[in-house]
Amino acid sequence: MIERPRRLRATPAMRRLVSETRLHPADLVLPMFVLEGATEPVPISSMPGVMQHSLDSLRRAVTDAATAGLGGIMLFGVPEHKDAIGSGATDPDGVLNVATRIAAQEAGDALVVQTDLCLDEFTDHGHCGVLDAKGYVDNDATLERYRDMAIAQAESGSGLLGLSGMMDGQVTAVRDALDTGGFTATPILGYAAKYASAFYGPFREAVQSSLEGDRRTYQLDPANRREGAREIDLDVLEGADIVMVKPAMSYLDVLADAAASSPVPVWAYQVSGEYAMIEAAAAQGWIDRRRAIEESVVSIRRAGADAVLTYWALELARWIR
Ligand code: PBG
Repeated sequence: MIERPRRLRATPAMRRLVSETRLHPADLVLPMFVLEGATEPVPISSMPGVMQHSLDSLRRAVTDAATAGLGGIMLFGVPEHKDAIGSGATDPDGVLNVATRIAAQEAGDALVVQTDLCLDEFTDHGHCGVLDAKGYVDNDATLERYRDMAIAQAESGSGLLGLSGMMDGQVTAVRDALDTGGFTATPILGYAAKYASAFYGPFREAVQSSLEGDRRTYQLDPANRREGAREIDLDVLEGADIVMVKPAMSYLDVLADAAASSPVPVWAYQVSGEYAMIEAAAAQGWIDRRRAIEESVVSIRRAGADAVLTYWALELARWIR
């Protein structure tokens, strides 16, 4: 026998030396929720350990994220009032825009403050866009709302706009709005391959979504790999500076495809349901929590993600150090 792969697995020092994939805090982005009117952080029951922040607790959390060396944070707003067009999203005094100003001020140059650019947190029907008379999400009318949202977020100091609504042409529309508004330097993260997933379940609690039904007329069918590749290509052509695959763990093939072909960075979002599954099993004592978390995120990086959005970002960063 000449080939004995086990030689390189014999000791912790050797295993560490030949490890192909490493986690680094700078490759991790922490998603955060901010609840309008909150005076205290409010726990999210389906995501143990994750909070809806008040503006005060957000401030502290941004400092913690910067101290831990995270690459960035991704902000989601939970407004007090929702309406059909998601007015809160474009109001400069709306929760997300206020939170962005505070986070940007607190973060300085230490990390990139990013914002979710989508209407679902702000609409009373819970869809990612505005509806036409038949209740269908109106693509082009929604693009007009996204353009205004982009300006509001850029003016608030967002360092990267995360376009998660899955409307056709959203990157083109937002790029044009930003450039016309003088924000040529503001980059776009396109949630290019975003699937209509059951793993967003706990997120709906986190943002108090009133959605009935599903998002299958705009998010991708989990059965489709080629369609994911097409969406990645389109977002790159439309000028996305970074593209994203979401969820992560069930879509590692789509992620590997994107990593192999994309000329821009490829990120992945380890979503709320992925978080909740591991937390729930670990709480039962059925899996080793830390090992499962590390393995899940290493796998996402191994499949090709340059950076990972994960609710464990802070904890992981502390373990890494
Ligand atoms: C849309 C958006 C969603 C998530 C991030 N951005 C919800 C959805 O599309 O249904 C889900 C994130 C998660 O589950 O952690 N604004």
